[in-house]
Amino acid sequence: MARSGSRHVCRECGHEALAWTGRCPGCGEWNTLVEEARPARARGAGDGRGEGLRATAARPIPLSEVAAANVARHQTGIGELDRVLGGGIVPGSLVLLGGSPGIGKSTVAAMALGNLASAGKRTLYVSGEESAAQVRLRAERLGERALAVPVLAETGLAEVVATIEAERPQVCIVDSVQTLHAEGASGAPGSVAQVRQAAGELMEIAKRHDVAVIVIGHVTKEGSLAGPRALEHLVDCVLMFEGERERSYRTLRALKNRFGATSEVAVFEMRSGGLTEVTDPSARFVGEAAAVPGSCVLCAMEGTRPLLVEVQALVAPTEIVPPRRIATGVDRNRLSLVLAVLARHARISLASADVFVNVAGGVRVEEPGADLAVALALASAHRGEALGGAEQPRACFGELGLTGELRYVAHPERRIAEALKFGLGSVIAPPSAEPIDGLDQHPSLDRALRSAFALSMRKAA
Ligand code: TYD
Ligand code: MG
Repeated sequence: MARSGSRHVCRECGHEALAWTGRCPGCGEWNTLVEEARPARARGAGDGRGEGLRATAARPIPLSEVAAANVARHQTGIGELDRVLGGGIVPGSLVLLGGSPGIGKSTVAAMALGNLASAGKRTLYVSGEESAAQVRLRAERLGERALAVPVLAETGLAEVVATIEAERPQVCIVDSVQTLHAEGASGAPGSVAQVRQAAGELMEIAKRHDVAVIVIGHVTKEGSLAGPRALEHLVDCVLMFEGERERSYRTLRALKNRFGATSEVAVFEMRSGGLTEVTDPSARFVGEAAAVPGSCVLCAMEGTRPLLVEVQALVAPTEIVPPRRIATGVDRNRLSLVLAVLARHARISLASADVFVNVAGGVRVEEPGADLAVALALASAHRGEALGGAEQPRACFGELGLTGELRYVAHPERRIAEALKFGLGSVIAPPSAEPIDGLDQHPSLDRALRSAFALSMRKAA
């Protein structure tokens, strides 16, 4: 047993353990448990169990009698952001906006607040990370509207809460939750206890005064929300900003949303005047796709929206054992699966080759429908032959099964419609209950490969 006043909390996942162990039982990470003081319980409550006996029972009400306020959401004026949020910011909600440093979190926050302020809403930008002057410099780049936002450069949680209480903004940004210092909690700012305390108090004030609070949180190199990971269950909505800092494209997706769908993705481009919405991302991502070996266009679905992206592969002979498998934009485990299926069911063994797979444009595709594009790009790179006879880029989608079969994925009609818009007919796809116009449907990877390389039925790889 640990001392009664302390507990061990995992920095990564927030798991609480009674005693220190080298490996977190929650997430399996090593050396992430840190000792923290246990939050003081209300005096006289003992272990808390006796409380229930003294409290008076409340009366539950039928759901049909609950007054459901149809609240008007705050429109941020950034259409793509509003869409990911499910139609704007819900008053009184707590939104966590995560992303790696330099990705554009403060920029999108400042732009949204600027738009809200110019639409007559009361706003507040709390900056714990940058001085008011630095925030102003950014706002200058973003234009007139962003300059209208009141700013508070402060790291003390108590002061921030008091200011929100006094100012009663309708929308407030806290940039970032890791810089806030909570008096009541142990640890340095950014530690699990501190971040939790800060979020808890912000949540409380958000609900009490109907202030929509957007807290910005950083992400560790591993990609999880550091510390704030422990907040995911607390907040109403978790938005993740992704992309490569060196590239200009950014995607914003909802990982959790109590007020909307979680599959929506918005695409932005970072320009000199801030982030601009990319309303037709397919054009951007496949505009440069060419019919060359190692390239395949994927008709992906990002939420309810079809999106064309180019999957590129490079296969290079190597002496290194084990050879390298580098995946950017697609899941590494999926790549391993695709390589295994290629070896087993299409006789394309890449065991003595380094393999690189990349989704062009710095986007990440998270759906099983990407398997076939990875497989075709790899096969094309391996053969040194462009898909579909080098006339125009060839597109595809489909999930690979372990037996080499092609599996149905959702919304084939929307995918083909998007491909046709860009002149990419004859999309290689898994079979569907009814044949669909424009699709070149095949039951297995082997058949898809034959079609892709116009091979006879006798020789595939
Ligand atoms: P920032 O919003 O500060 O990132 P975060 O808060 O996520 O750490 O933005 C970081 C980058 O964006 C920075 O490298 C500068 C660039 N940027 C532009 O290219 N154009 C702009 O108009 C602005 C405001 C920033
Ligand atoms: Mg920032």
